[in-house]
Amino acid sequence: MKKNDILDVTIDSLAFGGKGLLKIDGKALFVRNSLPGEKLRVKVIKSRSGFAEAIPLETLTRSKYYVEPECSHFKYCGGCSLQNLKYEEQLSQKERQIKETIEHLGGVRDVKMEPIVPAPDVYHYRNKMEFSFSNKRWLTDEDEHKPKDFALGLHVPGNFEKVLDIDKCHLQSELSNKILNSVKESSQSENLKAYDVRSHKGYLRYLVIRQSTNRDDLLVNIVTKHDEPDRLKKVVEELLKDCPEVTCVVNVVNDGVASIAYGSKTNLLHGDGIFHERIANVDLEIGPQEFLQTNTKAAELLYAKILDYADFSKDDDVFDLFCGVGSISLYIAPHVKSVTGFELLPEAVDSAGRNAASNGILNCKFVSGDMRELFRDLDFVRKAHGVPDLIVLDPPRGGIHPSIPKRISQLKPSRVVYVSCNPASFARDVKLFAERNYKLKKLQAFDLFPHTPHAELVSLLEHEPG
Ligand SMILES: C[S@@+](CC[C@H](N)C(=O)[O-])C[C@H]1O[C@@H](n2cnc3c(N)ncnc32)[C@H](O)[C@@H]1O
Repeated sequence: MKKNDILDVTIDSLAFGGKGLLKIDGKALFVRNSLPGEKLRVKVIKSRSGFAEAIPLETLTRSKYYVEPECSHFKYCGGCSLQNLKYEEQLSQKERQIKETIEHLGGVRDVKMEPIVPAPDVYHYRNKMEFSFSNKRWLTDEDEHKPKDFALGLHVPGNFEKVLDIDKCHLQSELSNKILNSVKESSQSENLKAYDVRSHKGYLRYLVIRQSTNRDDLLVNIVTKHDEPDRLKKVVEELLKDCPEVTCVVNVVNDGVASIAYGSKTNLLHGDGIFHERIANVDLEIGPQEFLQTNTKAAELLYAKILDYADFSKDDDVFDLFCGVGSISLYIAPHVKSVTGFELLPEAVDSAGRNAASNGILNCKFVSGDMRELFRDLDFVRKAHGVPDLIVLDPPRGGIHPSIPKRISQLKPSRVVYVSCNPASFARDVKLFAERNYKLKKLQAFDLFPHTPHAELVSLLEHEPG
């Protein structure tokens, strides 16, 4: 297989990340925008010793799993790359990918997995969407009437600079789409300039919409480069006129070069600046820059599984690592003696403390710090926070620092419940835990992100004397 070869192929499965996969003479060929069972004419665009990559030129036979995508932006937008794959097949592909990833990277033979749990809603399920402004619109045949130097939407795959202008995103509610369009129209009529990621010029950077599923809150965050909130006055006025359901509007300022919707300053433009959601029976207050699972209904199913796998007793002292605003800590608190949550962001720790108080929960405390530092001095940890019977951890996508499995094993909890949004980093960490005699005993995946290649999982690791 060489670069520029034209081949007729049949896609075997979906690889981790969402590309189609087949093998030719033992070499893996990844094909973009393809589905299992599809026969395609493809062009090889990259060929290395272990693998090659191709793009489709022509569909010869459609996959039996093909469905018509709902979204008019599907052709260009990378957000929901699996939207044209039958939902049942999305689930079985994700389940197989997770199992294979843990077998290959985690060194676990014959992973036993409970069946993947489907999302309660496959559209309109996100409680948070983040859209980018750009002064370079991704040009499409359908969008000729739109200006070239303004877009509010999502990046097309592999392009950090250009943004596909989105009118309607099926992952969020109709109301959130109305907000998206209101902000887009009024920022253009106010002549506010969209940001340019190369020159770092321009004012508008991101629009973040958070709409709670189990409460009535709707927080809009307009992230700008400059700390000049007065420039947003008319945009906010129009927004509140178009969408009176909006409960707060904030303006986070990010004058750094990093392409992130976070910043050091938050200007309050309407309401109290706090977003509320209820997960299971826990009421949560979440600051504009703090983490919450984005699919509330599916997160409730996942949290129930944490209880099931942990099998807590009322005598258990529990550590919840990477606890965010305390959503898991407070959910498990009624079932145990105590919970100590550890979290990097001091603001999230403050929110967690307030959340404990507002839910009338007295057996939780929260500690702020970096997990790489917090467990360095275990004598101090034991003295300050006691010895955990069980540890729950829910790290960001990158997984945990390699020192953490060792530190956890020195604290000697009998069980570890590991929640992960990235099977690859999870598999790597499972291997490190296995070296410390914590063995993977139970595993279940949850589809928190239908139509995207992502999935979440909950696992139980048990200590086996070595
Ligand atoms: C996937 S979120 C989980 C939050 C929470 N368990 C929940 O379900 O809402 C990961 C959390 O880890 C925190 N975090 C990231 N890096 C960290 C670190 N090095 N030390 C401690 N916390 C960290 C993030 O701020 C975030 O709140």
